[in-house]
Amino acid sequence: MHLPNLLQQRFRESLASMTDRAETYAAMIRPTADPKHGDYQCNCAMPLSKELGRNPREVAASIVENLKVDDLCLPPEIAGPGFINLTLKDDYLSETTRSLLGDARCGVEPIKEEKSIVIDFSSPNVAKPMHVGHIRSTVIGDALARCLRFLGYNVVTDNHLGDWGTQFGIIIYGYKHFGDPDVVDSNPVQELTKLYRIVHQLIEYRKAKRSLENFEETIVEAQRVVDHASAAVEQAEGSKLKSAKKSLASAERRLQSILSTRRSAEQKVESIESDPVWADRASKHSEIDQSVLEETAKLHRGDAENLALWEKFLPHCKDEINRVYDRLNVEFDHTLGESFYHSRLEGVVEKLRGAGLAKESDGAVCVFLDEFDAPMIVQKQDGAYLYATTDLATLQYRLGEFNPGEILYVVDTRQSEHFEKLFAVADQFGLAGIKLVHVNFGTVLGEDGKPMKTRSGSLIGLESLLDGAVARAKQVVCDSGRLASFNPPMDTAEQEMIAEVVGIGAIKFADLSHHRTSDYRFNLEKMVALDGNTSAYVQYSYARTQKILENAQKAEQDVAEMVTQHGMKLSHPAERQLALMLMKLEEALVTLHKDYAPNQLVDYLLDTAKAYSKFNENCHVLRAETPQIQATRLALVCLTGRTLQLGLELLGIGVVPRM
Ligand code: ARG
Repeated sequence: MHLPNLLQQRFRESLASMTDRAETYAAMIRPTADPKHGDYQCNCAMPLSKELGRNPREVAASIVENLKVDDLCLPPEIAGPGFINLTLKDDYLSETTRSLLGDARCGVEPIKEEKSIVIDFSSPNVAKPMHVGHIRSTVIGDALARCLRFLGYNVVTDNHLGDWGTQFGIIIYGYKHFGDPDVVDSNPVQELTKLYRIVHQLIEYRKAKRSLENFEETIVEAQRVVDHASAAVEQAEGSKLKSAKKSLASAERRLQSILSTRRSAEQKVESIESDPVWADRASKHSEIDQSVLEETAKLHRGDAENLALWEKFLPHCKDEINRVYDRLNVEFDHTLGESFYHSRLEGVVEKLRGAGLAKESDGAVCVFLDEFDAPMIVQKQDGAYLYATTDLATLQYRLGEFNPGEILYVVDTRQSEHFEKLFAVADQFGLAGIKLVHVNFGTVLGEDGKPMKTRSGSLIGLESLLDGAVARAKQVVCDSGRLASFNPPMDTAEQEMIAEVVGIGAIKFADLSHHRTSDYRFNLEKMVALDGNTSAYVQYSYARTQKILENAQKAEQDVAEMVTQHGMKLSHPAERQLALMLMKLEEALVTLHKDYAPNQLVDYLLDTAKAYSKFNENCHVLRAETPQIQATRLALVCLTGRTLQLGLELLGIGVVPRM
């Protein structure tokens, strides 16, 4: 049930005799910000009055005159310059609430659509540990998949693993030079991670060392700009002073940032060179960056040894990430990594050439695009294919295999340019019929507002983050004061189960609660709190509904029978507000789909939990005044519980019966 759509239909009918653009005007129905103005509002009379050259209040009056909504609403009110305010009838609300009893879909009508929606998400580069940066794609993609599937779409999820890139060159090099086959065989996951880290450190060291050679000049130049700007400030007067100061500040910032980059490069170099073991490794592997690239290239050329190592390592890399997916309760229909497309890359380049889209330029094969300065390179001088080539092959495969109407790429905003180019090439390739969307997202920041890192400067491991949240959840939910109130008492197993559900839920919910495109600061304390805009608050609200039903000893079936026997009547504003919220799940999901923004559902769940809390404060259920009021309230409790549970599930978050 989608109330705005229902109302829109009525408005279209009313508007049809007044304008050709009834559709557009009817689409202007919105929920009201303030309940004083009713439940929904339509502001179309103002723009329509311009079209008709009439007074807006008169136009509003004509619309209302033709409008048939008396089965749904009280007589519409015209306010201010011509707002049309709509208040749903209590009878309509209670009748609709009653119809939700026994409806597992909580009033959401399924969409019928032949074409599928492919969602490319998570897609980590394996062979290195998953870190905080992988949370967003995994959690947002999973929530979108669940929601769109629930709406009725045929969703196909695909984890486009980076299982063929430089990171394998890294562990192959690590294995050949630092690895002990027996140790790797006995504890592959940990050992490979260790080897990855050693080689990665050495590469970073080389990079830092090389960058230090070039700093002097850059710093002198930046200092010169500062001096120049500062002289300009001294000479500037009046209106010019402000802009001169601005230039100076920006020049100083630039200098500071160069100095701080140099400082961290120096620290990196220092930390390696001051440690005899690392210093020795560094001097023995002074060509490491080149050699790692060579190992990767050999793998791609089909070198038998490297291919065998890749085949040996890959399953362990997958075990590693699957452990995280299990814990997060995330599944994929397909896991077709980059390696799957390797044999198709040559064909893609051929096809692009054949279509006259790709041309040779400086020995590389490129697709030139009018809108971009730099072309999309699909094959390098040395014959190697690129990330973009693989994505074109992937796109072709998905089109042939999944009959998609939409393909969503849930990937960091920093890859925007890659996707803009990919979509532009796809367009020229004749794939304009389907909707390609880069569902981009911002960065997870630490408390200091900078990308979240460990003290040693590496990205925080995903698992340690999850562990931290679970530990915090245990403190919050299972402190001794709270535990004392449970009867029967909570054993350790139950406490641990709750901590896991609440802790993991907190991380997901906090991530999803921000609009995906904004960065957010990671703050465990706020994320795991029982009050505030948290999953624990919604989970706790759910648990309260279960407690009431348990005390009343009623299941939904019993409640439905009570309602049949005694009827249903909304007698308190808090009941009415809650009933209205229960009708808005579909609206939230449809809005979520428009912008691929799970925060729409998060907001809906928080609003519903808040409406429930008001209801709880004001409306006794077990001590209700009449059987009819009690039946009504039990129905609301029951439906709130199910709606919160379903909504959380659609975000990939669990509930517990008590907490
Ligand atoms: N593996 C890539 C990375 O970690 C993300 C892949 C996203 N999906 C895609 N089809 N390009 O940056």
